[in-house]
Amino acid sequence: MEGIAKLSGLFRESRSTVVFTGAGVSTESGLPDFRSRTGLWQGVDPMALASIEAWRRRPNEFFTFYRQRLSGLQGARPNHAHLILARLEAAGMVRAILTQNIDGLHQEAGHRSVIELHGSLRQALCLACDRRYASEILLENDLPSCKACGKPLKPDVVLFGEALPAAAWDLAVRESCSCDLFVVVGSSLAVSPANHLPALALEHGSKLAIVNLERTHLDPQASVVVSSPAGEVFIELSRELLSEATA
Ligand code: APR
Repeated sequence: MEGIAKLSGLFRESRSTVVFTGAGVSTESGLPDFRSRTGLWQGVDPMALASIEAWRRRPNEFFTFYRQRLSGLQGARPNHAHLILARLEAAGMVRAILTQNIDGLHQEAGHRSVIELHGSLRQALCLACDRRYASEILLENDLPSCKACGKPLKPDVVLFGEALPAAAWDLAVRESCSCDLFVVVGSSLAVSPANHLPALALEHGSKLAIVNLERTHLDPQASVVVSSPAGEVFIELSRELLSEATA
């Protein structure tokens, strides 16, 4: 596979590798991404379904969309990319995962240091009294409300029009400014501010590697671009890196 030798060389040379993931790392677990040909946003206006304004003004359409996503999550399991990333972390070759994903599959794969930039669909949140619930509460009725204060609940995810969680963002900026290898896996790098992180890493002297089926605007600045499915890439990488580590 084109680029694997270069990519595994970068992992070996690196003393501090950060991996940044997007929806493309979970498509092989059966979860759709957003902007590829088969993505969730094909023919859909994300602002109409995934914005704080939609949650406030069109709760029926909003919750119908998020209940579909939640049901999709029930059957999803970590794929080879998630599992091997967790093994690379255990072998000391990945310091942190910065993920835009809300599916919790990195944690389910056993990854310990996961920074969720866009929150988690595994939880529901009451904005009025800050109580959190397991997200199954969102499936209980059409317009789920807080059991303590009665106000409407929302999925504990960052909606368009909302700020990213400050603690997660600060941690992600710190990791991006101090790594020497920043690896993007399965992201179009289309959404800010998350897409500033690879640029920040480059500004601080890090090398950039991109594993993505489609081209991104940062490809020209990457030391290597591997345009193959993430699962296959990480299986190849594990043969190069983990067999050594366990030998
Ligand atoms: N292997 C590698 N790349 C893949 C795979 C795969 N198996 N499947 C899809 N891809 C690539 C697609 O080609 C696409 O370029 O992953 C990329 C996913 O990009 P997006 O669909 O834009 O997803 P993402 O970058 O995570 O979007 C960021 O946008 O709507 C918001 O909050 C949402 O967190 C999301 C954010």
